Order: sequence, then structure tokens, then C-alpha cells
Amino acid sequence: MSLKRAVADSVFDRRRAKLWPIVEQQLAVLYGTTPGFHAWLADLADMVMEAALARPADLTALDEDRLQNGAWWSRADAVGYSAYVDRYGGDLKGVRARLDHLSDLGVRYLHLLPLLKARAGDSDGGYAISDFLTVDARLGTNADLRDLIASAHAAGIRIVTDLVCNHTADDHPWAIAARRGEAPYIDYYTFKPEEAQVREAERTLLEVFPHTAPGNFTYVPERQAWVWTTFYPFQWDLNYANRDVFAEMTRVLLDLANMGLDGFRLDSTPFLWKEPGTTSRNRPQVHAILAAWRAILSIAAPNVALKAEAIERLEDVLPLFGPPEGPPECDLAYNNGVMAGLWAALALEDAEPVAALLGAGAAKPPGGVWVNYLRCHDDIIFGALSPYVAREDQARAARILAGLDPSFSRGRPFQEFDGVPSVNGMAASLCGLDEGGGDAYGVDRLLLLYGVLYALPGLPVVYMGDEIALLNDTAFERDPLRRGEGRWLQRPAMDWDAAAEASRGDGRAGRVFSHLRRLAAARASIPASPKGESIQMIATAPQVLSFVRGDGGARIQLAANFSARPVGVVLDVEGPAGWRDLITGAAGQGREVELPPYGLLWASEA
Ligand code: GLC
Repeated sequence: MSLKRAVADSVFDRRRAKLWPIVEQQLAVLYGTTPGFHAWLADLADMVMEAALARPADLTALDEDRLQNGAWWSRADAVGYSAYVDRYGGDLKGVRARLDHLSDLGVRYLHLLPLLKARAGDSDGGYAISDFLTVDARLGTNADLRDLIASAHAAGIRIVTDLVCNHTADDHPWAIAARRGEAPYIDYYTFKPEEAQVREAERTLLEVFPHTAPGNFTYVPERQAWVWTTFYPFQWDLNYANRDVFAEMTRVLLDLANMGLDGFRLDSTPFLWKEPGTTSRNRPQVHAILAAWRAILSIAAPNVALKAEAIERLEDVLPLFGPPEGPPECDLAYNNGVMAGLWAALALEDAEPVAALLGAGAAKPPGGVWVNYLRCHDDIIFGALSPYVAREDQARAARILAGLDPSFSRGRPFQEFDGVPSVNGMAASLCGLDEGGGDAYGVDRLLLLYGVLYALPGLPVVYMGDEIALLNDTAFERDPLRRGEGRWLQRPAMDWDAAAEASRGDGRAGRVFSHLRRLAAARASIPASPKGESIQMIATAPQVLSFVRGDGGARIQLAANFSARPVGVVLDVEGPAGWRDLITGAAGQGREVELPPYGLLWASEA
């Protein structure tokens, strides 16, 4: 045995001794009663070991770093960015050529939306995967991905992408074989031969796309049966009750991790387990899958982060970090309650919706990290505000932002859930900006929202284009493939001319870009301390969100005016020489400060 192998074996053995019992325990919950469970588990253990041994040296160095110095995703200076490969750089080579723009913003974490081979034609923006191990030819090759990762790592940027683990495209080889009725693939999906069975299942299921893809099943004529399709008819849900599906997807995770990816956005996490008579969302078994994956990665690729994508209520999102006393699950999760709360606060000129969600989210286990975001490629759904914000207030805010009621917003309604529309639009447009200039406070609103986002504990993630106030993109209306899907409104191509102007600080794009740069610097100066991870709410006027973060003399106080009226606030931080605004550097004396319309302050003791 070579020395390298012997060393790798001993490192692996130590991690395995500690973590494999978790895998065993979780998988026993899911598959313990299936015949030959122990032999299957032994094969899985071999697969994990092979992956650990095949891990390239540069990646094991990252693993070591993560184990010695803590998680890269929770560092105080971490700022994230999320983009489609084609919209940002044309292809992977183009993204690599544009890493400077990200470094300029202080980005340390780049989430690239789906980049693996997607089905031809409509692929739900790449969320219908035909091959989990090959980069989509429209975006480049696996070698291009490796090159991008190497350059990003050299620039201190980690690369995360989507693992669309809930479903495959209908032209994935497994789906093609299943359609032909071939074993074992027919059991990779859930087929219902009788229409009555479909009706029975639908009784308790909800709908993700009630307008564009109603129902949860799609008829497959070749099988004379209905296949489970939670999302679009061409996205076939995988059947995790079949242990072979779990093993296949685990292999995918390990192989992609060994390609150098630093993390995965686990798409549609709540949907992984189906159970008759339930909504088939957030079932306990989902947690067993996630805990097993976390433990497996911690053995074979500890550098790799798992991020939960669950656009659900807080009570269903918090458990995705793992139980307080149990094994960890996802390292990161989208803070979709606070996201919706920020928009509702802006629409209603009342900080309460976001304050309420921030208070409730404090119940998060200490190991979990919130991904704080304002916009993404999807619509804004307000249901995550329940039960903290009344349905009528959700509806009122949504109607304002969707432009259904008179307002500053240039957003549009998408679907409707329980009488509350969901909303499409780029952040800048939702804040009131348009080609002609738009609302006078448009830029201030955008600066305010990002100002709050960066002040929160967790990882702030900028959605591509927000840094230059990119507007809604209506080009999709002229494309037959996309025109039925309103979410394309917030998927514009990057405007590199505007970005060049912005980096010189010119125009409104320059105002936003400079603000984000200052926020990144100010954020990095917040001393890391356990206290810095929690916030203490400060009671003030209803339109103001205010909280204190940090300890002793290193405390900062955020004050953000969500209204178009000036308002007085009383500061809680004041040093011998008064206070200083960490964003603008402005200084002042005395505790009473007036915030202008949409005014923002990060006060520290001077
Ligand atoms: C997630 C994605 C969304 C996609 C869906 C199905 O919710 O964010 O864009 O449509 O999953 O994959």
C-alpha cells in the first residue's frame, strides 16, 4: 500500500468511525426493513471510501482548512452572489473571465444556477436535468467547470451550484428506461396506473405551479400510467423510498464534490419524500436523507456545504438545519421569511413584518447559517410570513408590489396562493425604478434593503444585476419557449456596459455598486463574536427596523426607515466621541438622530 493511500485511509477511518454510525442510523430509518439492507449499506460505505480516496490533493487541502479553521461559509467577511452562467458570462469560460467583477464586490461565494446537462426545449431554467455528471454543452465542458473552479479558488471564491435532487428531466436515461418499463428504472419514479389513485393522492397534495402546471401527476401513454411530477410535466420526481435512488444520488453528490464544487443548493428539499394522505412536503424522512448526506460528505469531502432550498414557513425551514441535539443536516438555508418580510415592510411602510420574522428566526441552531437574500430567479411568495403576518397584510403588500394596487413598484403578479399573489420582478424594478428613471426614492429603497441584508448575521447573497440596479427583462414575452413563464422577468442578461460605468461610480448603477462595496467593507469590520451572531431588537417608530449586533464597544446599531417620511430614532450606541456611520463614515454626537425617507444607518461607537 502506498504511503498516500495509508495516510488517506487513516484520516478516512477516523472520520468514518465518528460519522458512519449516523449514516447507518438514518438509513435504517428509511430502508432498514428492506431485504439485504446490510449488504447494501456495505456497498454504500465502499462507494464513500472510494470517493474519499479519489479526492484530489487540492481539495483535501480545502477539507483540512475547513476542519482546522471552521466553515468557510460562516466567515464574517463572506458575501455571496447568485447568477445564471449564460446570463452572467455567456458560458463558463465567460464567467471565469468575469471573476474580477465579483472580487470587486467582495464576493467569496458564487452560486451558479443549474449548469448540468438540461433537457432540450423548455427545461424550467435548467431545473430539468438529463445528466447529473456532465456540464450542459451550451455552457461549456466539465474541463471548463474545473478551470473556473480553480481560478475562483485562487481568487478566494467558492463555487456552489444546484443539485436538482428531487427530479430528473423526462429525457434522463433513467426516465427513458422507465418509460419503456425497464427494471430497475421503473421504480426510480412513482407511477400510478389508475386515475382514481391520482385523484386520491391529489386530495392532500398542494400545487407549486397552480397556473402554469396544475396538478402533481402527468400521464405517460407508453406506461398507461401517471407519473409523479410535482413541478412541470417534464420534471419526474425521483422515488427516494427506493434505496437505489438514494445511492445513485449520493454517487452524484460525491462525484460533483470531487470535481471541486464547494457546495450544493439542494433544490426543492421539502419534496424528497412522498407519503400517501399527506402533503408530501417536509416529511420526517427528508431529514434522514439530509442527515445521511451531510454525514457522508463530512467523511469524504468535509469542505462541501449543503444549502436547503425550501420556500416554506419558518417552522418547516428551521428543522432543515437538523435537530438541536441530533445530527446536522443542511449548513445553510434560504431565509425566505425575512426576504418576504423585507418586501412586505417596504410595501406597507411598516417594519413589523421583517422584525417579526427576525425575532422568530432567532430559534435557529447555532451551527446553521442563514442565506440572506432579496431576490432570486423565482417569484416572491408571501406564505412564509404566516403566522407572523396576517394574510390580509400579506395580500396588501403583494398587491402593492405586483402593481395591482397603485404604488411605486414595477412588479407583476405571477400566481396566487390562498388569495395572496406571488410577485415577479427585479429588485430595482420592485423598488420603483424604470428606464425613464422611475420613482424618486427607487434607488434609496434598493440601498435600504441591501443595507439591512448585509447587517444581518448570516451570508448575504446578491442576485445578479442588483448591484447595478438592473431592471425587469421583458424580452421573454417574445420568445415562444418562455413567454408563458413570468419568472423570466427577473432573469435578464448582465449589462456589462452598465457594470463598467458602475465600477467607476457613475450614475444610479454606480450609486448602488459603491454602496454594496461599502457594505461589504463595513460588514467585514464587524468583529466576529458569538454575540455578533445574534441581534437584539430595539423598539422605535413602527416604520423603523432597528437592532444591535455585537458586544461592548464593538456593537453596531442598524436603523432603517422603511417609509417615505423622515423619522427620529434614539441610538443605543454612543462612545466618548459620539457615533460613526460604518457605511458613509459620517459622525455625530448625541443619541437622537433623524433618518431621512428610506434612510439607513449602521452606527458604531466613536
Ligand atoms: C426550485 C427552483 C425553481 C424550480 C423548481 C423546480 O424551486 O428554484 O426555479 O422551478 O425548484 O426544480
